[in-house]
Amino acid sequence: MTASHGAHGAAPAAEISTATALGPGPTLTARDISVYYPGQTRAALAAVRVDIGPQDLVVALGPSGCGKTTLLNVLAGFIVPSQGSVTLGNVPVRGPGADRAVVFQSNALLPWLDVAENIVFGLKLQGAAPQEQDAVAAHMIALVGLAGWGRRRIWELSGGMRQRVGLARALASASRVILLDEPFSALDPFTREQMQELLLDVWRQAGRGAFLITHDVEEALFLATEVLLMSPAPGRITERVRPDFGARYRAGEPTRSIKKDPAFIAMRERLLEGILRAPAPAADTPA
Ligand SMILES: Nc1ncnc2c1ncn2[C@@H]1O[C@H](COP(=O)(O)OP(=O)(O)OP(=O)(O)O)[C@@H](O)[C@H]1O
Ligand SMILES: [Mg+2]
Repeated sequence: MTASHGAHGAAPAAEISTATALGPGPTLTARDISVYYPGQTRAALAAVRVDIGPQDLVVALGPSGCGKTTLLNVLAGFIVPSQGSVTLGNVPVRGPGADRAVVFQSNALLPWLDVAENIVFGLKLQGAAPQEQDAVAAHMIALVGLAGWGRRRIWELSGGMRQRVGLARALASASRVILLDEPFSALDPFTREQMQELLLDVWRQAGRGAFLITHDVEEALFLATEVLLMSPAPGRITERVRPDFGARYRAGEPTRSIKKDPAFIAMRERLLEGILRAPAPAADTPA
């Protein structure tokens, strides 16, 4: 990350709380979640439990088909689970809502709007005053390192810049939890690492829990307060790890020094072995 918005140079927490004025978010809780897709006999998710508090960045890690996106869709309210419950605070989640923002791998940005308009699109729909929209847009644009780009169109941006806009839009919304499905997987390794640092910089200040999906063991270990190692057929959590590497980054340790630390490498290799041992997903037999 550049000096302008490293952990060490990001905008102060007070600014973001005036921008969003929401305070710390509630915990998003999923209990005993099982999902059977129509016509399938094997569970896409079986007895999954997750807690995402305002200080948590929970990362789901696992091979293709282990149910990561299914779990995100349940948390977002896009899918109603076959069994189990999802609550935000003490309120049952019954469908999609503005309290949970989703950032996808390729962002659903609106090409006919500029960067600032995309960032405050949700706020505008919720009826925020124009002055508030302008203030939030300016703050978020600075926070994600896009100063000077507010009036540019989406097609003028690189892939990494588009993901910055997607992240800014999620933070600008009144969401209490942010759900990210492989947000950085289409980026080159250098941009990807910058985005990981940006996420660590902004997520804690936002006072909101985050749930992120990745295939990348290194990304999971670097970002997560908790890694959920998942395995397919049926999709389930096989191991939970609580790394402290993201906290070390926020305390000022350089990313490269963290990622080449023997403790980081040992944990990375152990998780990788766990993933490689997972059974390959087989086609389900129709019910
Ligand atoms: N709409 C659907 N209908 C039927 N089966 C589905 C549907 N969506 C996903 N599945 C199945 O559920 C299982 C889990 O899929 P899911 O997309 O959650 O996995 P994933 O871990 O996100 O995979 P990837 O890493 O490839 O994105 C897979 O076996 C998949 O084929
Ligand atoms: Mg997926």
